[in-house]
Amino acid sequence: MKFFVDTAEIEPIRELAATGLLDGVTTNPSLIAKSGRDFMEVTREICGIVDGPVSAEVVALDHATMMKEAEVLRKIADNVCIKVPLTVDGLKTCKALTGEGTMVNVTLCFSSNQALLAAKAGASFISPFVGRHDDNGFDGMDLIEDIRLIYDNYNFATEILVASVRHVTHVLQAAKIGADVMTAPPKVIHDLFKHVLTDKGIEGFLADWAKTGQSIL
Ligand code: G3P
Repeated sequence: MKFFVDTAEIEPIRELAATGLLDGVTTNPSLIAKSGRDFMEVTREICGIVDGPVSAEVVALDHATMMKEAEVLRKIADNVCIKVPLTVDGLKTCKALTGEGTMVNVTLCFSSNQALLAAKAGASFISPFVGRHDDNGFDGMDLIEDIRLIYDNYNFATEILVASVRHVTHVLQAAKIGADVMTAPPKVIHDLFKHVLTDKGIEGFLADWAKTGQSIL
């Protein structure tokens, strides 16, 4: 499963990229606002840090203006992936852009039928928001299971990008279902490394090693 980080903050992106485990970045207008940075400038900087897809979202609601915005955004770097909302105009834009060889991430997906439409529109990625689904009394992971089934039934190439990930259990469940990608805030990715028994084990090994009086270097 590919790991994307869901942030527009440069330092956490650099830190995770240095692990060699980061496959891409997702941003959205809220994350850009939170960063306090200029959209174009911060997107260019992120594209220079990671080789994989960097999602940058259009804000227009009509197809013609979405295309104009996408034209500006895709000039930033070759790894920009245009993010469009799951609307009629968003999917028209998706079809046009992927037809021209531009990566597209269709966002704000909350149903399997929406995911089916996005795949038919040639989306590179579909972003079902599992956390917001859970918040509203549904099970976000049921949605991922259904989308996996539908995409496999028809061999759609669209990658399932599990978004709105809130905790490590979401990551585990997404991996068990066979989602292609998950995008999570930096903290959730850092939490994946942690286990109390790993810390305790290191502590015990180091204490015993000290008793030997030896050194490797
Ligand atoms: O990737 C989508 C994500 O940014 C939304 O997450 O936590 O605001 O639902 P959240």
